[in-house]
Amino acid sequence: MTDRLEGIEACVFDAYGTLFDVHSAVAQCRDQFDLAAAPAQAMSDAWRTRQLQYTWLRSLMGNHVDFWQVTDDALGFALDTAFGVGNAPSGLHRALMDSYLTLHTYPEVAGVLKELKAGGMKTAILSNGSPMMLEKVCAHTGLDSVLDAVLSVEDVGVFKPHPSVYQLAVDRFGLSRPAAVSFQSSNAWDAAAASAFGFKVVWCNRFGQARERLPGSPDIEVTSLATLPGLVGL
Ligand code: LAC
Repeated sequence: MTDRLEGIEACVFDAYGTLFDVHSAVAQCRDQFDLAAAPAQAMSDAWRTRQLQYTWLRSLMGNHVDFWQVTDDALGFALDTAFGVGNAPSGLHRALMDSYLTLHTYPEVAGVLKELKAGGMKTAILSNGSPMMLEKVCAHTGLDSVLDAVLSVEDVGVFKPHPSVYQLAVDRFGLSRPAAVSFQSSNAWDAAAASAFGFKVVWCNRFGQARERLPGSPDIEVTSLATLPGLVGL
């Protein structure tokens, strides 16, 4: 662990869970649907867990579909589990998918990205999300104006944590070494894998997760992104 990263030329962010609050999809639908029949937070957790598991399983199976399809499949599973097979309220599945395109950012995100840009830092998203999903949520939240690039795994056809995904950021910015990237993720497994790839990593441990026992180790652990500009020397 260190308290400052040297030689950083680009700040690259995981999207879902790091910039965008994945649980804000269910929160948005609480206004439209009575979710009392199912514990909404447990359903949201199950949706997210299955979504990630399906990315890893599909990558192992060599059977890629985009993150929109994976998210839809995972939601079907979570709704059947929460309400009983086929018993979810009519229209809820569709409304939750639509809400994924209008997720909320965490409170500090817009200000931090603005500060990084103002300080001359290159900024990007590097995400499992499909180009359509990322374009819509960035436009909705206004983050498109403070990002130099929005990079999707669809360019390599395999999900994180495959090293070819992390390489996308090195190539996009023409960097001579991965360690010129500060990569921010709230997902402990993504933080570990990005470090194993060679990025400098700030693990935004928003959820008080335990450290993964995987190759790679984050350089800095924080609980929000608020201090990031100082950590990368701005
Ligand atoms: C992403 C997922 C892992 O945005 O949160 O890539």
